[in-house]
Amino acid sequence: MFEIAKESRFGSPRSLLLICLISVCLVGCGEGPEMKFSAHPRVKDLMPKAQETVNSTIKLHFGEPSALNAWDELPVEFGLVTGAVTEVQDAGKGQKKLTVELEEESDANLTGDSLQFYREDEEGEELLDFIRVVSHDPKNNTLVVSGDHFPEAEAEVSIGGHELAQGQKLYLKHCLHCHGVTGDGQGATAKYLNPKPRDFRLGLFKFKSTDYADKPSHADLVRTLNEGIPGTYMPSFKLLSDEDKAAIVEYVRWLAIRGEIEKRLIDFFEADFSMETYTETKQEGKEGLEELEQDFQDLVTDDLPDEFESIYEQIGRKWELADDEKSIVNPSEPRVPDTPESRQRGQEFYVKVKCITCHGPLGNGDGSETETYKTDPLTQITYSKPGLYDSWGELVKPRNLRLGQYRGGNRPIDVFRRIKAGIPGTPMQAFSSALSDKEIWDVVNYVLHLPHEDPGMKHKTSSSETAAVPETTSGTDSE
Ligand code: HEC
Ligand code: HEC
Repeated sequence: MFEIAKESRFGSPRSLLLICLISVCLVGCGEGPEMKFSAHPRVKDLMPKAQETVNSTIKLHFGEPSALNAWDELPVEFGLVTGAVTEVQDAGKGQKKLTVELEEESDANLTGDSLQFYREDEEGEELLDFIRVVSHDPKNNTLVVSGDHFPEAEAEVSIGGHELAQGQKLYLKHCLHCHGVTGDGQGATAKYLNPKPRDFRLGLFKFKSTDYADKPSHADLVRTLNEGIPGTYMPSFKLLSDEDKAAIVEYVRWLAIRGEIEKRLIDFFEADFSMETYTETKQEGKEGLEELEQDFQDLVTDDLPDEFESIYEQIGRKWELADDEKSIVNPSEPRVPDTPESRQRGQEFYVKVKCITCHGPLGNGDGSETETYKTDPLTQITYSKPGLYDSWGELVKPRNLRLGQYRGGNRPIDVFRRIKAGIPGTPMQAFSSALSDKEIWDVVNYVLHLPHEDPGMKHKTSSSETAAVPETTSGTDSE
């Protein structure tokens, strides 16, 4: 682990203290087929040195699946335990038995975790070292550890990552085949599904109680695990224990943060150090290339550390903020009574603020927007099929509101939040400035009543969706 830290361009003592690494060794550490986090495809658009820098920076701070890093600058519950060594005994086989007085009581089993401590190297410089906890006896507060160096009595140590490791273990068991090792939504079964399993790396979540641009709260992610996402292949995980769900949620948040930081690093280098620039410069001659590489090196030395710090602080703050009660989107008015008059007003607003362009005049999900051709905002290329696209570049259908199936929950407050705060990652924007809370309630009353309206009112050319079952890619979505 420390090897990577030394190679990194963040190896200055200042940032090493700031970026505190804990490697987490998992069950079967070093055995079995090796799993790897994959780099985002956009990394390939950078010049070779920039690719290397993005990959090594991400690896330094997040590790690999077989040895995760718990980087304590992130608002993630890693399950770190700190304490002081009170006694060091020889345990044979090159191992030591440490008695550790923990700062806080913990019933966590630390077996398999890594223990972190500072020691002096040959030149007398302080450096961070990691060793592995071979076994843990919580009753006597003793740990048998193995490694090349050991902490001495009175050394401060931190041990852990068990929460994240537990989350990973459960994720690999329950979520991997759809959401993939890296959380890129490319698990083995993903290609057959529509909608696709979420790629967490954009940090975009659709169904949550917070505002459009905000992250989901812990409670929102737990809700998704409990309820699943009706009408898609995302199943419910209600039967898992609360602790297990909490651990999985931490791991999903961690994967999302990892992906977002990777994306922001790519954005940072893209303008001046793309593969395109590199190839062009190379064709022009050696001198230009040397200059380009020098410019890159200067950027890495002079600007990257501060830029990186601001990236992870911004992202971290957003995730933290999502758990602030004030971030929850709550109506300023109680629900307007569900009367024919309210629904009538709701229908008028539905037309006025143009829900109709996507959801259609009768709510069948067949508005005019589903028939026009759109361009990919990244590449400016027109999509081959008409209709709306999501932030992952997939065709997305406006919901058929006559089916009465709501992916983000069917309580009136859920539908209220979908309208007020929009559905991130999809073309459905927030309506908080177009409609007052009272008006949104009227629209909610109208929308929730649509499935109960006389089916005779159904549009003749209504969408071919008949049953509210998820579709495979051979289904209507992609046809
Ligand atoms: C059989 C495939 C499948 C499995 C297994 C699965 N998911 Fe999903 N998941 C999906 C699909 C499909 C979506 C996207 C649904 C959509 O866009 O409406 C999704 C979406 C999500 C979302 C995004 C919710 C939002 O608000 O945007 C989260 C979070 C999530 N899954 C977490 C998990 C976790 C954690 C597990 C394992 C405990 C898991 N999923 C297992 C298919 C799956
Ligand atoms: C630009 C197109 C667009 C507009 C305008 C739009 N929507 Fe949507 N809406 C969508 C799409 C796309 C989805 C499906 C998103 C998904 O689940 O991936 C959706 C989903 C929904 C859902 C389902 C929520 C759930 O939990 O499953 C409701 C309800 C809804 N829209 C109501 C409205 C209302 C009411 C308006 C107007 C105030 C509106 N929409 C405006 C595109 C739009």
